[in-house]
Amino acid sequence: MKKALLLSMLLAAALGAQPAETRARAAVKELGEKIRSLLAAELAAGGFEGAVEVCAEKAQAETKRYAAEHGIQIRRVSTKARNPLNRPDEWERARLEEWAAALQANKTPPEFAEHTTESGEYRLLMPIRVQALCLTCHGNDKQIPAGVKKLIRENYPGDAATGYANGDLRGAFSVTLPRP
Ligand code: HEC
Repeated sequence: MKKALLLSMLLAAALGAQPAETRARAAVKELGEKIRSLLAAELAAGGFEGAVEVCAEKAQAETKRYAAEHGIQIRRVSTKARNPLNRPDEWERARLEEWAAALQANKTPPEFAEHTTESGEYRLLMPIRVQALCLTCHGNDKQIPAGVKKLIRENYPGDAATGYANGDLRGAFSVTLPRP
């Protein structure tokens, strides 16, 4: 009897936990692909200045739209943020620092981090790594064209999001689902 009860409780817990993670992962996938395709289209069509606008305005707009549509919170965060709105909170910062340390030590960081807050919200954090395409706007001084530098300076006076190399941890997608 006791065993059966425990088993059914475990099963319920496992089933209960799964949809939150699945929903959060779907949000990251959809938004990530959206931002990437907007960026790629803009880079192909007109160059870097348009793409700065994508990462700047459309990324924020898409993020808000997705969140409103699905009743969840999702945003991009970084310990070296370009936009101060994307600075991490305490939990996000701790995970990002662990992951960056793991990468520096040539270890593979975990694929994601999750936890449930005291008030019952489910949180998921998924790393964003730097690819070659990103260096135009997040690389070193030589890799960022003058026009892009100017735009970044004008729009983000406190920018900290340069000096990255391919494969670095750029930040993370952070999702919060309301208490079920
Ligand atoms: C054309 C320029 C450009 C390119 C290319 C670009 N970014 Fe960005 N990125 C920006 C701008 C501008 C922001 C600030 C966005 C905002 O205001 O939310 C930003 C912000 C971010 C953020 C949010 C944290 C922060 O620093 O504010 C992440 C994460 C990020 N970019 C990752 C990437 C990745 C990964 C790539 C490559 C796949 C990439 N970016 C390519 C311009 C760019």
